[in-house]
Parts: sequence; structure tokens; C-alpha cells
Amino acid sequence: MRKKNVVWIGMAIALLLGASWVTAAGPWIDEIDDEDSLCFPVGMFSIGAPQGVEQTRAAVDFPHSRHMTYSCQTCHHTWQYHAIVDGCSTAGCHDLTEAPENAVQKGQFTAEGIRYYKYAYHKMCRDCHRDINAANRDVARKAQFAGGPVELRRSGPVGCVECHPE
Ligand code: HEC
Ligand code: HEC
Ligand code: HEC
Repeated sequence: MRKKNVVWIGMAIALLLGASWVTAAGPWIDEIDDEDSLCFPVGMFSIGAPQGVEQTRAAVDFPHSRHMTYSCQTCHHTWQYHAIVDGCSTAGCHDLTEAPENAVQKGQFTAEGIRYYKYAYHKMCRDCHRDINAANRDVARKAQFAGGPVELRRSGPVGCVECHPE
């Protein structure tokens, strides 16, 4: 996940700089003729289970605009630089409403497993916050020996009830 993010962020930066050396396949900005605009939803979303799934936990509050230090493609990883941003459970994406067999192999979600919307959200949301917390613990541990001020990164929730309040 992390490696992929780095690639996407790198591409986004390259696009911002107008670099013409980006050679990966895809409809890049200069190939989109029509002027297009994108509505960016700010504030808090409530993410619930897709239609047909009985919610067993409370829906999750997601402060979209608190995540704007990231490139859009960190999360909207199939977005191709025009107005339409597909939802996560769009057909063919994370559209399974039950865990498939063999969802996990060697501790990793399989390609089929990650189509289950719950696994996709948990992997994206929780793992990012968890990775930041782990990096913070590392920084704090090193600072204990070195002394001096510790600067920790802000993070998000990792506990079940922090995301799904009771
Ligand atoms: C970072 C936020 C986050 C954390 C932490 C998190 N979840 Fe979720 N979870 C989500 C999101 C987003 C969804 C998809 C929306 C939904 O269905 O509520 C989801 C979906 C689910 C679902 C399927 C929907 C339902 O209500 O039945 C279950 C069950 C669930 N989570 C249980 C857990 C449990 C148990 C934990 C702790 C081990 C946990 N979650 C931790 C964000 C989180
Ligand atoms: C940390 C992850 C994350 C980042 C970063 C992010 N988004 Fe989102 N965004 C989401 C999630 C999750 C949803 C809800 C998707 C759903 O309901 O299926 C969403 C929804 C949207 C929607 C509504 C899509 C719909 O289904 O109607 C738009 C438009 C959007 N985002 C645009 C952006 C843009 C533009 C950026 C960059 C400036 C961005 N987002 C950055 C996670 C993110
Ligand atoms: C790529 C990393 C990343 C992803 C993916 C991500 N987050 Fe976050 N999240 C953060 C960071 C960093 C913050 C701290 C932002 C701040 O406070 O400035 C945060 C903050 C939050 C907060 C606010 C916590 C508070 O203190 O108020 C919530 C809630 C949250 N995230 C939920 C989610 C959910 C739900 C998803 C998935 C739909 C998600 N996040 C995906 C990095 C991420």
C-alpha cells in the first residue's frame, strides 16, 4: 500500500509540475480536451454499508477535507483526472458485499479479497493510521535516546469504536 502511494504521489507531483516525461499509460490532463470541473465534497461524510448489507456496526464518520495533505489518488486510485470520481463500491471495484473464499493468503488480502468493501476500507483507512502511529512510535523511541523535541505526525483512529461508535 505504502509503496503504491509513493508512486501515485510522485505522479501527481509530476503532473502538477507539468512534466512531459511521465510516460505511464493513461488519459493524462493534456489529453482531455473539454474544460471540466470537479465538485469537491468538504466536511464530514458518513460512510455506511452498501445497499443490501445489514449494518452491524455504526456508520463511520470520515472528515474528507482533513485528508487533503494527500494526493487524491492516494484513495481515488483509479481516478483519471476528469470530473467523475467513482465511489468505492462501484461495480467491478470494491463491490462484494460478503468476504469471498480465499480472501486472505499469507496474511495479505488477495485481489478477490480486497473487492469486499469492508476489507478495502479497513485496509485503506485503518492501515494508513496504523502506519503513521508505528512511525511515530519509532520517532519517539529514537528521541528518548537522542533527547530534544519530538515531532509526531497527526494520525487518525485505529480502534473499532473510534470509527464505529457504539
Ligand atoms: C479507520 C476506521 C475504521 C476502523 C478503525 C475500523 N473500521 Fe470497520 N469499517 C470502516 C469503514 C469505513 C467501513 C465501511 C462502512 C460501513 O460499512 O460501516 C467498515 C465496515 C465494517 C463492517 C461491515 C459493516 C457492518 O456494520 O457490519 C464491520 C463488521 C466492521 N467494520 C467492524 C470493525 C471492527 C470489529 C473493527 C475493529 C477491529 C473495525 N471495524 C475498525 C472503518 C473502520
Ligand atoms: C484519505 C482518502 C481520500 C482522499 C485523499 C481523497 N478522497 Fe475523495 N473520497 C474518499 C472517500 C472514502 C469517499 C467516499 C466514497 C464512497 O462513498 O464510495 C470520497 C468521495 C469523494 C467524492 C464523491 C464521490 C461520489 O461517489 O460521489 C469526490 C468528488 C471526491 N471524493 C473527490 C476527491 C478529490 C478531488 C480529492 C483530492 C483533492 C480527494 N477526493 C481526496 C476518500 C478520499
Ligand atoms: C493515506 C493515509 C490516510 C488514509 C488512507 C485515511 N486517513 Fe484518516 N487520517 C489520516 C491523517 C494523517 C489524519 C490526521 C489529519 C489531521 O488531523 O490533520 C487522519 C484523520 C482522520 C480522522 C480524524 C481523527 C480526529 O482526531 O478527529 C478520522 C475520523 C479519519 N482519519 C478517518 C478515516 C477514514 C474513515 C478513512 C477511510 C475512508 C481514512 N481516515 C483514511 C490519514 C489517513
